[in-house]
Amino acid sequence: MAQLLLDEFRGLNNNQAYELAFNKRLLRPNPNLPGRFLGNSQRDDFLPHLHTLLRELPESAEIFDFGAGGGEIVDLALKEVASATINLEEPNPLLIAQYKERIAKSVNLSLGVSHTGPLQDYYGADAAVLRPLKQQDLALAIHMIYHLTDFTCAQIEPDQDLKQAIGAMYSFLKPGGVLFVVFANQLVSTTGQASRYYFQQKNDLATVQNLKQICESRDKLLRQGLIELYLDSIFPDSKAVIKSVSTQSCIFGSTREDIVAMCLTGELGEANDEPFDLNKLEILTEFINRHEQEIGLTTEDREIPQKGMVRSNQPQIITVIQRQSK
Ligand SMILES: C[S@@+](CC[C@H](N)C(=O)[O-])C[C@H]1O[C@@H](n2cnc3c(N)ncnc32)[C@H](O)[C@@H]1O
Repeated sequence: MAQLLLDEFRGLNNNQAYELAFNKRLLRPNPNLPGRFLGNSQRDDFLPHLHTLLRELPESAEIFDFGAGGGEIVDLALKEVASATINLEEPNPLLIAQYKERIAKSVNLSLGVSHTGPLQDYYGADAAVLRPLKQQDLALAIHMIYHLTDFTCAQIEPDQDLKQAIGAMYSFLKPGGVLFVVFANQLVSTTGQASRYYFQQKNDLATVQNLKQICESRDKLLRQGLIELYLDSIFPDSKAVIKSVSTQSCIFGSTREDIVAMCLTGELGEANDEPFDLNKLEILTEFINRHEQEIGLTTEDREIPQKGMVRSNQPQIITVIQRQSK
């Protein structure tokens, strides 16, 4: 495999490796279109759906961004909101610091509460976690639901984990508020196939099975909307109204090695300070070389900003859940 890629990731911890894969590559900016990306088309594909929701926000809106990342969403979309308080939850301290900087520089946004920790900290009655005082107009869960179930466990309950997570985010909404969930369709996406390949190579077939089960759970509860029944049962004062759409999105790199690195942004990405395991990149390189067809690896030839870049499939699902009052 390319020595340069190994050298770039050598000696890093998992948080730093994730930043190189996600922020530097998947969110590689388009130098000609500020706030837009060359590294993926997922964001361009979900943007019209998010814009529709942002246009409906009241003055001085309350927004809660879960698994918030480094705040690229500020330039991409939130700068267009008239005025809003942004509440944050994000376990990676490097990224949450970047997000706060972006808020500080913006004229229309102010920081509400911020929690440097996982979404799971909000489950149950953990009094130590700061919660916003006001109910939220909009909650964002953009490409962050990959971290809800520990798929390395012998027994997993992905339905239960997803219900708890969505229920926790939904609980912050005011009547009429909306939860905007976006996730890659990991059954067929490059990063989903890559994660399963990795565990297959490690001879960990139970984890491969777990990953499939987790995808099926998202499909059933979110894409098909069956989580509605659960939300209505635990929030009897509200009616959840769910709509989902699928988009045929892609990821793009200058080289095949960039696509290899981006495979770390799915289930193989870890938010902690443990040393990053370089063997992941070796296995992922093998995956890309053996499964070009399955991931649609090709050189982009359409007349789009990514023309000439290496492309592979990363379809996503957008689920919008509105909390209507009864
Ligand atoms: C693919 S990034 C998306 C970031 C941001 N939402 C965006 O779209 O730009 C996934 C984020 O989820 C965070 N994350 C990891 N485990 C998490 C957990 N248990 N709860 C909440 N977020 C988590 C990661 O640190 C990372 O910033």
